[in-house]
Amino acid sequence: MDVIEMRDVSKRFSSKTVLEPFTFTVNKGEIFGLLGPSGSGKTTLIKMMIGMLKPSTGTVAVCGTPMPNLNMFHRIGYMGQSDALYEDLTAKENLSFFSGLFGMKGKRKRERMDQVLHLVDLTEHAEKKVSAFSRCF
Ligand SMILES: Nc1ncnc2c1ncn2[C@@H]1O[C@H](COP(=O)(O)OP(=O)(O)OP(=O)(O)O)[C@@H](O)[C@H]1O
Ligand SMILES: [Mg+2]
Repeated sequence: MDVIEMRDVSKRFSSKTVLEPFTFTVNKGEIFGLLGPSGSGKTTLIKMMIGMLKPSTGTVAVCGTPMPNLNMFHRIGYMGQSDALYEDLTAKENLSFFSGLFGMKGKRKRERMDQVLHLVDLTEHAEKKVSAFSRCF
């Protein structure tokens, strides 16, 4: 099943073409990465994918739903490259805040926080403020 489908998508900002038309799909279970120099349009592409920006041409669908679609926002996890975390809060406090936004609470929330801390190998640093972490993540 195509989870993400971007078809004939392009993006212009006034007269400047940032992305020439492209098409790709990402299937269920696939991990898809974008590589490119600064300014090549990676963030622009992701913003169109999640419905934060409107393509100049083409169509985007996530899980078969044409984007943008407000109902899809709570199903998509997007972490911007900056301002993504609260530096004065610890890793755990950040997770608690963001999982709360997704409506998680109680045992399920605690378990999920432990899981993701383990996943990124930060369990032992959970109580550290984000400002103390390396920038290389
Ligand atoms: N809102 C905007 N208005 C005008 N031009 C924009 C806008 N947003 C992005 N651009 C331009 O589009 C191009 C692609 O920017 P984008 O941020 O998508 O690149 P990027 O690949 O994410 O770069 P980086 O690796 O530095 O994060 C750049 O030339 C940028 O100046
Ligand atoms: Mg970017």
